[in-house]
Amino acid sequence: PIDVIKVLMHNGIMASINQRIDYETAALVAHEFGFEPREQRPPEAVEEEGPSLLWQRLYAGEDPSKLKPRPPVVVVLGHVDHGKTTLLDAIRRTNVAAQEVGQITQRIGAYQVEYNGRKITFLDTPGHEAFTQMRARGAQVTDIAVLVVAADDGVMPQTREALAHARAARLPIIVALNKIDKPTANIERVMSQLAELGLVPQEYGGDTIVVKVSAKQRIGIEDLLEAILLVAETREIKANPDRPAVGTVIDARVDRRGPVATLLVQNGTLKQGDIIVAGATYGRVRAMFDDRGRPLKKAPPSTPVEVLGLSDVPEAGDLFEVAESERQARELAERRAAERQRQRQVRRMSLEDLYRRMQA
Ligand code: GTP
Ligand code: MG
Repeated sequence: PIDVIKVLMHNGIMASINQRIDYETAALVAHEFGFEPREQRPPEAVEEEGPSLLWQRLYAGEDPSKLKPRPPVVVVLGHVDHGKTTLLDAIRRTNVAAQEVGQITQRIGAYQVEYNGRKITFLDTPGHEAFTQMRARGAQVTDIAVLVVAADDGVMPQTREALAHARAARLPIIVALNKIDKPTANIERVMSQLAELGLVPQEYGGDTIVVKVSAKQRIGIEDLLEAILLVAETREIKANPDRPAVGTVIDARVDRRGPVATLLVQNGTLKQGDIIVAGATYGRVRAMFDDRGRPLKKAPPSTPVEVLGLSDVPEAGDLFEVAESERQARELAERRAAERQRQRQVRRMSLEDLYRRMQA
C-alpha cells in the first residue's frame, strides 16, 4: 500500500490508505507497476446508470426540444514527440485565412476551425497531465479523442496511457497514424500493435478509424477532419444555446490586464456583461476574445473564449456558470474558497499521517 500511495503522490493525488479512486487513476498506478489494466465495466452498463453528475449540472432542467447541434470538442493525445503540436499546427493552417498565415501564435489553449462549413473545437492539451488533472477533478469537456501514434516509433508507454485516459473518459477514439512520410515508417507494424490494444483498424475488419497522416508535410489532414466530423455525426453532440452559459475553465493566468481565463462554453451562450462564478472566483465578463484575439460579444456552445473581468485566477478544470447577481456570485465564490481551504487542510493532515505510517 505504501508503494501505491507513493505512486499516487507522485501523480499529484494525495490519497489515504482506504480511499476510493477512480478507474483512470487506478489504471495509471497499475501501469507504473507494469500491468495492463482493463476496465471491467462494459460501457453499456454505464449508460444504464443515467447521466453523470457533471451532465446533470451542465444540462440540469434542460428541455430536450431546445437542444441544438454544437461543434464537437476534440482532444489530441499521444506519446511525446509523436507530433501532436505539429498536427494541431497543420490543422490550424489548413483553416486559418491567408492573411493570418505566419501569425501562428496560439492565443489560448483551445481553438476552433471550420471545415466544409462545420466547426470543430480543438483542445490543445499537449501533455496528457493537464487532461488527467481536469478529469480527476471531474471535468468532462471533450467529445472525441485523437490519438497520435508515430509510424516510425509505434505504440509507446504514453500511447497506452493516453488510450487508458480516453477510454476512462469513454471518448470515441480516432487514431492519427503520423509521420508516414518517414522512410523508417512501418505502418503494418503499428496497425498490428493497435489491434493488440483493442484498436482494430477498419482495414483489418475492426471499427477503429485510423487515418494516415504526415503533420509535417500536411498529408491526410482533411481526411482526419472528415473522420472527426463523421464520428461527431454518430453522437448526440448538442446543447441549448438559449440559456445562461455553463462550462469549464481550460486555463487561467494573470497578465497586465489582470486575471485572464480561457473558458470553454459547454451549454448556453456566454455574453459580455454576464456575471460568472468560476470555481472560487467571480466577476463580470468585461471583455471576451476568440482564439485569434478578436473581440466577441457572444459565445455559443463549444466556443473557447478568453475572458477578462474575474476577481482572481480560477483553476483549470473548475466549472463556471452565470450567476443571477453579483452578490450571489460573490457568496458562492467565497463559500467555495473556504471549502477548498478546508480540503487542503484535510489533505495536509492525511499526508502527515502517511509520513508517520511510513516511518513506523
Ligand atoms: P510533445 O509536445 O513533446 O509531447 O511532442 P509532440 O507530440 O507535440 O510532437 P511535436 O509536434 O513537437 O513533433 C516532434 C518532432 O516530430 C518534431 O521535430 C516534428 O517536426 C516532428 N514531426 C511531427 N510530425 C511529423 C511528420 O509527420 N513527419 C516527420 N517527418 N516529422 C514529424
Ligand atoms: Mg507538443
